[in-house]
Amino acid sequence: MIISASTDYRAAAKSKLPPFLFHYIDGGSYNEHTLDRNTDDLSSIALRQRVLNNMSELSLESELFGEKLALPIALAPVGLTGMYARRGEVQAAQAAANKGIPFTMSTVSVCPIEEVAPAIDRPMWFQLYVLKDRGFMKNVLERAKAAGVTTLVFTVDMPVPGARYRDMHSGMSGPNAAFRRIFQSMRHPSWALDVGLLGKPHDLGNISTYRGSPTKLEDYIGWLGENFDPSISWKDLEWIRDFWDGPMIIKGILDEEDAKDAVRFGADGIVVSNHGGRQLDGVLSTARALPNIADAVKGDLKILVDSGIRTGLDVVRMLALGADCTLLGRSFVYALAAQGGKGVENLLDLYEKEMRVAMTLTGAKTISDLSHESLVKMG
Ligand code: FNR
Ligand code: LAC
Repeated sequence: MIISASTDYRAAAKSKLPPFLFHYIDGGSYNEHTLDRNTDDLSSIALRQRVLNNMSELSLESELFGEKLALPIALAPVGLTGMYARRGEVQAAQAAANKGIPFTMSTVSVCPIEEVAPAIDRPMWFQLYVLKDRGFMKNVLERAKAAGVTTLVFTVDMPVPGARYRDMHSGMSGPNAAFRRIFQSMRHPSWALDVGLLGKPHDLGNISTYRGSPTKLEDYIGWLGENFDPSISWKDLEWIRDFWDGPMIIKGILDEEDAKDAVRFGADGIVVSNHGGRQLDGVLSTARALPNIADAVKGDLKILVDSGIRTGLDVVRMLALGADCTLLGRSFVYALAAQGGKGVENLLDLYEKEMRVAMTLTGAKTISDLSHESLVKMG
């Protein structure tokens, strides 16, 4: 078992949240093999210990698309964040801004862009899904621009949702789901009052703002399946590229051929990701996919990575494997569910401390000093 702040926050989130929400966050697709590989493969990467290099001055700062990052970390887009804590997107975005890192708002957020952007003193990133309703996509991009969003994260690994069997067992979907969710909420009264009652309205804020009426969230998983567009192809990205003048990152790349296509397309960055093991079970962990992708495209665009990062040491490992920046998914969500924005800030403090120790003992004075030289070559 891995002992980390993420592990502790996960346990706290589990006792605080109704099970249908905890398992939606925690679970992966099918048998969850890739979910497990993400953390197992990453934690098995051995760092090289180097000593006596006068490590009294360290810098964890970096620059990405002209933006200064206090840590090489951004918060990943996570749907329904406003169900895990009261107006959760606002709390998470404020925590990220306080720590000097970007927050990425998901298309399927509870709070709309117009609620979150003015609540922080740092431009946020926005994640876009291809929905069948292209009018929505244009509308939401216009609103993102108007709200000062800098970077667009375009997620391409969810043309259809992966089979999440945990959701069917937990009451997130499946028979009698609405009844089971009410029953579970009654058994978690502090969540029911703080988020269930005082955190309303509970719907997909970005989409309701566009449609002018609340999204019916009775069957969220069913909604994703109906509204996401499996016909998505590189062509769909072209009009978005023309429409969006800021940096554009393609999220959900796991193969070097797709990474090369992203370069040809003119993307500013990619997120090497298997969606946290929530889409195609059986694919490679990102720790194993990243080195080949970095060999193929490093320097042609920025390489971000997520899936399985639970500690500051994991961030150091991913940078050593070739990433320029990392995204945290479940790790920050557990902290948010457990303690709100304060929990996320505390988590990021711990990541920073862990990174400082790891950099001191691998002899890396700056983020860009981390390379394959920081890792033990395994046979
Ligand atoms: C996600 N992820 C995700 N990605 C995305 O592009 N848009 C989204 O709305 C969501 N929603 C979402 C909900 C939940 C509950 C989770 C856990 C994840 C994927 C996310 O951005 C990221 O790729 C993974 O979470 C990374 O893996 P770890 O860090 O959770 O292991
Ligand atoms: C998920 C979607 C919303 O992973 O990205 O549940």
